[in-house]
Amino acid sequence: MTVSRRSVLTGGALAGAGALAGAAGATAAMAQRAEPVLPVVADAPELGSVVVPFHDARQAGVTTEPPAHASFVAFTLPGGTDRRALGRMMRLLSDDAARLTRGEPALGDTDAHLAVLPAGLTVTFGFGPGFYRAAGVTDRRASSVRDLPRFGVDRLEPRWSGGDLLLQICADDPLTVAHAQRMLIKDARPFAAVRWVQIGFRRSPGMHAPGFTQRNVMGQLDGTANPQGEVMDRAVWVTDGPPWLRDSTTLVLRRIRAEMETWDLLSTADKENAVGRRMDSGAPLSGVDERDEPDFAKLDDSGLPAMPDFAHVTRAHVTDPALKILRRPYNYDGAANAAGHPDSGLIFAAYQADIDRQYLPIQKRLAERDLLNEWITPIGSAVFAIPPGCAPGGWIGEQVIG
Ligand code: HEM
Repeated sequence: MTVSRRSVLTGGALAGAGALAGAAGATAAMAQRAEPVLPVVADAPELGSVVVPFHDARQAGVTTEPPAHASFVAFTLPGGTDRRALGRMMRLLSDDAARLTRGEPALGDTDAHLAVLPAGLTVTFGFGPGFYRAAGVTDRRASSVRDLPRFGVDRLEPRWSGGDLLLQICADDPLTVAHAQRMLIKDARPFAAVRWVQIGFRRSPGMHAPGFTQRNVMGQLDGTANPQGEVMDRAVWVTDGPPWLRDSTTLVLRRIRAEMETWDLLSTADKENAVGRRMDSGAPLSGVDERDEPDFAKLDDSGLPAMPDFAHVTRAHVTDPALKILRRPYNYDGAANAAGHPDSGLIFAAYQADIDRQYLPIQKRLAERDLLNEWITPIGSAVFAIPPGCAPGGWIGEQVIG
């Protein structure tokens, strides 16, 4: 659910919306406090003033629509970090995130004017296996949250891999993301060292009608078969168990380089063969429309399977709704080298209730045989638990280490 702050201030969006009363109260109170310093708020255009509530049973930034910009920041905890220090850090960072996502400066914010346009900002916290070890609560870690096994396709680099704590910061504006990242890193610094930062992007808002599937840097429509609605909720969230697991999820984050130089040499037909879907419409090669279910039994005119046996979609396809994963990838595009060779790919983020049951079987099939492997190379890998959300006054991680 998103709320425009301008609508809140003018009362437009909230007439009769009782469920939003809490958010409205908090937002109005915040706007009142902030007004003398931040007069720009009332004139903010819709996009800049969108607020995604931070306080909820489940963290935002997972099943919420991915905004255009993201920064993934992983930290390493120094030896000797204990549960109390982690509690102090998470209280501080949760407070920063709650304020910044409302469009309010963080405490001690040195550039308060950069905080006023949240643009749908979400800050999602993830705990790596090392977080649970440091806190002495390994019994509270979801058992599937551990380093992935090594796959034959992996060319992993330490500079993109691992991490004890993750911040996934997303918004529809890159300056909002940069500011939130700066404030959060500043407050995390006494407790943890930055291990890596990965900056990603998707299409800007307004480029497509809502619900339109985006293209990735390889030109493919990416996200078509993602679970939606209730199916998505059930696949992503842990719905029972002890408080530190209920309403949690897990994240597998892979940095996957796209081999653009060789991809560019392919004909459209070869690209479609590798994926199993058309480049123009995104339709499966067995169908006509993007939303047609792939028909793996269908033969083409020459008597061969219309969906090639080793196409990416054929290998990745899952029919049981409970075993689906939610892909929430961002593109990356670093500096081309002196010879003009691009440095592009996906920051591939997959959310699921259980990595062992849902993610790993797909990843194993793809690593074993997937035509697309020739043009993609995993160069980073990290795994995090995404703990439950928190209520106002609470903090992320309170169920785990509180
Ligand atoms: C750079 C890397 C990758 C690229 C460019 C890519 C691209 C695509 C494309 C174009 C589709 C078809 C449209 C859609 O449903 O979104 C697709 C589907 C899918 N991909 Fe990937 N993918 C990548 C990596 C991965 C990885 C690492 C996994 C999981 C381990 C994965 C799992 C899936 C799944 C589950 C589907 C849906 C299959 C179905 O049920 O139809 N992909 N991917």
